[in-house]
Amino acid sequence: IKKRKILLLPGDGIGPEVIQEVKKVILWLNSNKSLDFEIDQDLAGGCSYDKHGTPITDEVFYKALESEFVMLGAVGGPKWDNLDFSKKPERALLKLRKELKLFANLRPAICFEQLVDASTLKPEIVSGLDIMIVRELTGGIYFGEPRGIKPIENGERKGINTHSYTTSEIVRVAKVAFDLARKRSNKVTSCEKSNVMEAGQLWKEEVQELHDKEFKDVELSHMLADNCAMQLLKNPKQFDVIVTDNLFGDMLSDQASMLTGSLGLLPSASLGAKNKEGEMRAMYEPIHGSAPDIAGKEIANPIASILSFAMALRYSLDLDSEADALEKAVQDVLNEGLRTKDILSEGKKEVSTSAMGDAIISKLQ
Ligand code: NAD
Ligand code: IPM
Ligand code: MN
Repeated sequence: IKKRKILLLPGDGIGPEVIQEVKKVILWLNSNKSLDFEIDQDLAGGCSYDKHGTPITDEVFYKALESEFVMLGAVGGPKWDNLDFSKKPERALLKLRKELKLFANLRPAICFEQLVDASTLKPEIVSGLDIMIVRELTGGIYFGEPRGIKPIENGERKGINTHSYTTSEIVRVAKVAFDLARKRSNKVTSCEKSNVMEAGQLWKEEVQELHDKEFKDVELSHMLADNCAMQLLKNPKQFDVIVTDNLFGDMLSDQASMLTGSLGLLPSASLGAKNKEGEMRAMYEPIHGSAPDIAGKEIANPIASILSFAMALRYSLDLDSEADALEKAVQDVLNEGLRTKDILSEGKKEVSTSAMGDAIISKLQ
């Protein structure tokens, strides 16, 4: 892993639009805070398929391997939806997560006071919200075998995916959740479907056992994932850290994003384990996708990506004060009343993707 080497993979749709704003932040930090980030940028997703016939080339994958971390925009879009699974843009992302062993995906959902009225929920439900969803990212039904589509009798076909987890896969991500909880409000809610799935039953047992062995001081509760989806809308502030599997984490985090006002606000950190030297592989990615419906219009919200970079400053680089400053700059801009279209409300000023990026940088001065 080369220190300070960052690989930008903007991807498709709004990916390049939002990553451009992150790039501006990085270049600003280089010139004004004497930081020495070395940026490289390459193709992943549909854009790579169009040029090279594969969603990610070996060359780009090796660049990711030797970078300190990857900043990913978003991949995918209708143009590539009917490709074989091995060629789909989403494969690039899944390969990076799986092969870099980025098993813990941290998805914080924080409702900024300035945006309470941007949420579709009542202000008193979301005001002050600060939850952390820890999504398992390299197992479960996304990667289980067997999988595929195969012909069966009567001319029918069968689509197959397998949901499975091993003890160690569950324990390592649960550890991350408990450790985070200790630095927050000391509460973990573990979500699964132990009532219908053996993998869910194992999840629940292993999380409980780890708790009883190493994290007795943390308050642990178990919740069925369907109930969790409902509770997130009814009373989201009951949660501190939610730990859950790959698929439930995907869905619950998109849902949680609307508690904060927009999917365009939620950042994420995809982290591996620390090695003996204390180094850790990581990729930072907004939780949203390539948003084909708004791509090319200069209206995408870059805040999710900029806050993902703030997570990189914090988790990969230990630059806590720079991360704080970037997060504060986002708040300052919101205080000034600047809004991209997705979070616009009465009396506020609509700005483009790049104007939002520029405004955030101007607050860093
Ligand atoms: P999406 O997240 O791209 O968009 C969902 C909705 O949220 C759209 O209405 C979109 O306009 C809006 N939205 C998303 N990000 C926004 C932003 N930054 N600012 C303002 N509005 C924003 O989900 P989708 O439409 O279901 O998926 C589109 C494509 O993206 C698919 O090909 C999917 O596979 C892919 N995808 C990729 C990632 C990723 O690369 N990490 C994540 C999710 C979806
Ligand atoms: C996300 C996305 C991805 C996922 C897709 C694009 C593979 O929805 O990062 O949330 O399902 O993990
Ligand atoms: Mn998703």
